[in-house]
Amino acid sequence: MALLPRKKRCKGIPTSTVSQDHLGRNSPVGEVKFGEVGIFLVERRMGSSRRRFLTELARKKGFRVEEQMSESVTHVVSENNTGKEVLDLLEKRNGISRTGFTAALVDIAWFTESMGAGRPLEVESRHQLQVTREAVAVTEVSISSYACQRRTVLKNKNRLFTEALKVLAEAAELNESEGRYLAFSKASSILKSLPYTVTKMEDLQGIPSLGVHSRKVIKEILEDGTCSEVENILQNERYQTLKRFTSIFGVGVKTADKWYREGLRTLDELRASNVKLTREQEAGLLYHNDLSAPVTRTEADLIKQIVERAVHKFLPATVVTLTGGFRREKEFGHDVDLLITHPEEGKEEGLICQVINWMTTEGLILYGDITGNSYKGRSKDPGIFDHFEKCLSIFKLKKELVNNLESEKLSHCDSLAGDKTRGIDLADHTEAAQQVTVAAAGSKDWKAVRVDLVIAPYSQYAYALLGWTGSRLFERDLRRYAKHSKNMSLSSHSLFDNEQNIFLPAATEEGIFAHLGLEYIPPRERNA
Ligand code: UTP
Ligand code: MN
Repeated sequence: MALLPRKKRCKGIPTSTVSQDHLGRNSPVGEVKFGEVGIFLVERRMGSSRRRFLTELARKKGFRVEEQMSESVTHVVSENNTGKEVLDLLEKRNGISRTGFTAALVDIAWFTESMGAGRPLEVESRHQLQVTREAVAVTEVSISSYACQRRTVLKNKNRLFTEALKVLAEAAELNESEGRYLAFSKASSILKSLPYTVTKMEDLQGIPSLGVHSRKVIKEILEDGTCSEVENILQNERYQTLKRFTSIFGVGVKTADKWYREGLRTLDELRASNVKLTREQEAGLLYHNDLSAPVTRTEADLIKQIVERAVHKFLPATVVTLTGGFRREKEFGHDVDLLITHPEEGKEEGLICQVINWMTTEGLILYGDITGNSYKGRSKDPGIFDHFEKCLSIFKLKKELVNNLESEKLSHCDSLAGDKTRGIDLADHTEAAQQVTVAAAGSKDWKAVRVDLVIAPYSQYAYALLGWTGSRLFERDLRRYAKHSKNMSLSSHSLFDNEQNIFLPAATEEGIFAHLGLEYIPPRERNA
């Protein structure tokens, strides 16, 4: 978007006198539509007339443009300057300390695109001026706004903030406010990837994906230890009830909200009501206690073994892979995600029905719902959902088998370690894991566990594996990155190059990252 010819000569950042003279009084100020965004235009290399023109344009479109750099500025926009040059100028002319700087440093492209869109756009990494963290940090950190370009391990140094942001994201999700849900999820995710604990606002300098609201939350927690908005949500009856209802297998936000509006509040009230439940919801309600308890890694390993044995009865060369959170090295999960494939493509067809039928007669399955393969050939425009044949199920897991496998693991570790101290550590851990299982199972000798079985044809296996390993945000950003940075369409089935008009086959996850021009991120670093 060419707005005005670029100025050739360099000018400094305007002092307050300059901005008032040139911009303050005569600028037509439209009604501010996006108060939460405050723009400061850097005059250096932009020139005063272009700056004036851009200011007027933005104000007409309802943007708030500040004459001077202040706390209320969220976006510092400059043209043909490096991040370091802008920070140097702000420090020199406006006395702003670089360590105290929390606004986004963006290129003019963000501004022109936002003007074009008529609203402030999300800051993408291509909009950001690169700045290295020069604060106390020993290492230089340059953080991408794409989760698929960050390495996020499970160890999170900013749990205090991420837990609060997670509540805000959940509340937004329950209000079906997708934009807010994403904003808080992204903020939480970026904090999870930081190699240090945030102890002051200056630590957030140059970090993308942190909106005004999220920064406000972090600031409040830094000052008061808690965030009042989060505390209020946690006490809110609608939030509590919708969380309770959506925790039932098969219940989404719309249904939960409907029940809430009908006056229902607890699971017992739901059970006593004459609300019509689906078969899935009935099972979800019946086994709710067990299904609410975390699934342990041992339980997941055991279920994988059970499924492996079952599929091998029918097709010996079938490959079963544990995906989802457990593949990202989580110790606990809400379900077990298993991906099933066969090296001879086509052999996998019809397998799931046989396996589920057999396991049901063996008393291994409490509930199962098979969805057929709805993949209509490769699609260039993949939707959010995949089309694999799958079975959403509830397994009946014998507690005794879990304990046996636990002891087996323990003795194996013992013999490997040959060191008493390590053995004791592991024993403590095992006991904790067993307590979870026992508590969930109560007096019965089995535990209900949610299991997703997904069948992928061999040629789509790598894409299915990448898609089902998660995390949710990592997946979302992979697709966003493919689309915006590469003009490619990624799904759990395939990758399509929209420029060359071809599908890009891949046999491994590494191959997919390579097609996307991304550095390979192993599963344990995808906990975004
Ligand atoms: P999960 O919801 O099971 O999440 O989906 P998780 O990361 O394993 O976490 P917990 O521990 O169970 O709570 C696993 C991955 O599978 C993808 C999701 O995007 C997620 O990355 N998925 C899930 C699909 O692609 N399609 C679905 O229908 C469900
Ligand atoms: Mn899972």
